[in-house]
Amino acid sequence: MSADLDALARSILKDNDLGGYTIPTKGLYPYQWNWDSIFVALGFATFDQDRALEEIESLFEGQWDDGMVPHILFRKDDPSYFPGPDAWGTSDRAMPSSGHSQPPVAATVVREIFESAGEGKLEARVRALFPKMMAWHRWFATYRDPQGHGSVAIIHPWESGRDNLPDWDAPMSAVDTTGIPAFTRKDTAHVDPEMRPRQIDYERYMAIVAAGRACGWNARKVTQASPFLVADPGITFILLRANRDLAALARRLGFDADLPEIEGWIAKLERGLERLWNPELGAHTTLDLKTGKLGQGVSSVAFLAPYAGVRDEAVLAPLRAHFDRIAGRVDYMVPSYDPDHQGFEHLRYWRGPVWAVVNFMIARGLTQAGDHTRAERVRADTARLVKHSGFAEYFSPVDGTGAGGKSFSWTAAVWLAWASPNPSQRAA
Ligand code: DGY
Repeated sequence: MSADLDALARSILKDNDLGGYTIPTKGLYPYQWNWDSIFVALGFATFDQDRALEEIESLFEGQWDDGMVPHILFRKDDPSYFPGPDAWGTSDRAMPSSGHSQPPVAATVVREIFESAGEGKLEARVRALFPKMMAWHRWFATYRDPQGHGSVAIIHPWESGRDNLPDWDAPMSAVDTTGIPAFTRKDTAHVDPEMRPRQIDYERYMAIVAAGRACGWNARKVTQASPFLVADPGITFILLRANRDLAALARRLGFDADLPEIEGWIAKLERGLERLWNPELGAHTTLDLKTGKLGQGVSSVAFLAPYAGVRDEAVLAPLRAHFDRIAGRVDYMVPSYDPDHQGFEHLRYWRGPVWAVVNFMIARGLTQAGDHTRAERVRADTARLVKHSGFAEYFSPVDGTGAGGKSFSWTAAVWLAWASPNPSQRAA
């Protein structure tokens, strides 16, 4: 059964490979997505390390001059997706793309692939990627911390990768949609609308895109002009972890001159996390930089604190209590939002469903912090979901129903790299 699933996962990656880059799934997402591609590389690395690195190299082909790596690269026009390059106002670029980024998991994955490749292998290619990753992390430090406190802000919910998280509801309600051009969604033609963001979310998404386009996507201007500016614990934890991995690569490859800058970013992000700690909740949450209000729910990314290297018991003890409480409420860990919160919906995208890639990062952090029992619960639940519902985009934490797109690349990739019981493929 697991061997069959391993073979199926490999065939999904090969089938979604459009030649040097991989789409998340056919129809719903016909382009190259940023963090999807990086996780896909982890999956390829279990059977083809050259192809794995090629996936990451191809993503960096779309890097902007200011260092930003876009969240979508529109390599070939495809009318099955909205919003495409025209809506973003980037059709005239050499590589049309969206105008903002996504969680920077590249340095972490590149380090993992490089270290498991064996002495000397892939070194020249990783060396070539290093300055590109530096430039991307510098872009986050320069343009996504407008108040200089060390937490990473997003200018669009899509930048977090967790599009319709209940924590975005309050800041999104302030986004004015007057005058946005009429548009037709394509996502709801591919997937049950009950599993996707609502129409009002899309109207607000497009209002933020219009504000960015009006600034020509100049990073500094966009941060000032965006009607949405929220510090996100997810991207903050992920960047903190990625900076630690970038520093490890710098030491290994002799980029010593870059170390002080990276260490400065790490220290600042560690301080920035303090602002995102909600003491009443006992978890890190979002912080609306326009109103100063903290989010009120425990989302799955709160459990990324150990992944980011947090070892403070004042953080880890309440997190364990949340984990055990939530584990008593759902059949499958880890729901993207707290099932005890009124915003929870078990099948609607990021308002409750389990996502295999987030589980992978949570388990990786738990293992590294020594919590093998909870890490194994997360892995075993992910494996049960795949066995129950296949390689779906996301899953109900309540009954395991597979939802969203099917034959999904990143679910297949983290199966191969981690969730599969086949020990040769266990990364965590
Ligand atoms: C979508 O189209 O749903 C994507 O999540 C945006 O990145």
